[in-house]
Amino acid sequence: MKAIAKNIYYVGVNDRQKQRFENLWPLPGGVSYNSFLILDKKTALVDTVDICYSDIFFKKIDKLLEGRMLDYLIVDHMEPDHAGSIRLLRQQYPEMKIVGNKQTFRMLEGFHNITDGLHEVKEGESLDLGDHTLTFYMAPMVHWPEVMLTYEETEKVLFSADAFGTYGTLDGGVLDTEMNTDRYRNEMIRYYANIVGKYGGPVQKALQKLSALDIRMICSTHGPIWTEQHAEIIKLYDRLSRYEGINGVTLIYGSMYGHTEQMAETIAAALAENGIKEIAMHDVSKTHASYILRDVFHYKGLIIGSPTYNTQLFPEIDSLLQKIESRDVKNRLFGYFGSFTWAGAAVKHLAAFGEKMKWEIVGTPVEQKQGIRAEEACTALGQTMAERLKQEQ
Ligand code: FEO
Repeated sequence: MKAIAKNIYYVGVNDRQKQRFENLWPLPGGVSYNSFLILDKKTALVDTVDICYSDIFFKKIDKLLEGRMLDYLIVDHMEPDHAGSIRLLRQQYPEMKIVGNKQTFRMLEGFHNITDGLHEVKEGESLDLGDHTLTFYMAPMVHWPEVMLTYEETEKVLFSADAFGTYGTLDGGVLDTEMNTDRYRNEMIRYYANIVGKYGGPVQKALQKLSALDIRMICSTHGPIWTEQHAEIIKLYDRLSRYEGINGVTLIYGSMYGHTEQMAETIAAALAENGIKEIAMHDVSKTHASYILRDVFHYKGLIIGSPTYNTQLFPEIDSLLQKIESRDVKNRLFGYFGSFTWAGAAVKHLAAFGEKMKWEIVGTPVEQKQGIRAEEACTALGQTMAERLKQEQ
């Protein structure tokens, strides 16, 4: 078990089995469920792990406690990937007080039927463990309503619940200084877009609270512990939660027989010819929405193309638009195009979508009938988007 700061130990686990997080989002590199044990005059555990891993988890805690009592369990988040082991933990340590807020305790009763041995905390209240003091800050809707952040003031450690989390197991090292963190960067954006993306406003409020704290280390419930790179990841979260994209384009299309795809190819070539180096191109039938959402959050430019299908959008495009809308993605520069065989509808639906999202429409939309090529119009769309993005620099 790794000591990450004086008398604070990492006791989390890796999940290399699960195919999809929340049974939705692919986990090619697995995921970690992070938990931390503080050994002081009083002992405190911060969060638990998915119930599938409770056995490994309890062994780690038992070993570190060396027969001592576990005095407190701090529950920063009640989603079962962290709160799944609470009922078993209470059986193991019946004297343990569970620390949370009013919302936590409603969920604790609902999920685990636990109503006693509780220690309620409110915004800014502290819990003295001896040499360590924990202070609690409410962060509703980052990612659920009961979420709170716990700050340990002696070691200046922030336990941040899902905030700053990322997919990917911890393969040996735990701290960012012990590993090459490159593989987590894209995965942090994907995690944000999939899980927290809807809640940009609440994330901004939480970041405001954090700005008053002297933070040396961020311990999220998923992924590496951020020490040297903590300021950088706070900056990334700030950008993502303001829905601010970097200069580049996510180019998304659906295509049954390749005609809409050829339009996308022409647009991509025009973007590149006009100086856009960051182009993330996705065929919705091949790439899981999880990865496409990542790029929609990452880039300022967004171009979507769809064939007309049963007088509607291509179904996979329709489904993706619903996911983008439910995350209330703001401030995108939006271009669109589509195709049809006998009656066009896709372009009309994309126009309505852009309007609903209140995005700036860039370029002239292109609508292609059958295989008649619309190269010039597609080139113009790519060129106009590139020029508009240059104005953002
Ligand atoms: Fe990692 Fe919202 O749970």
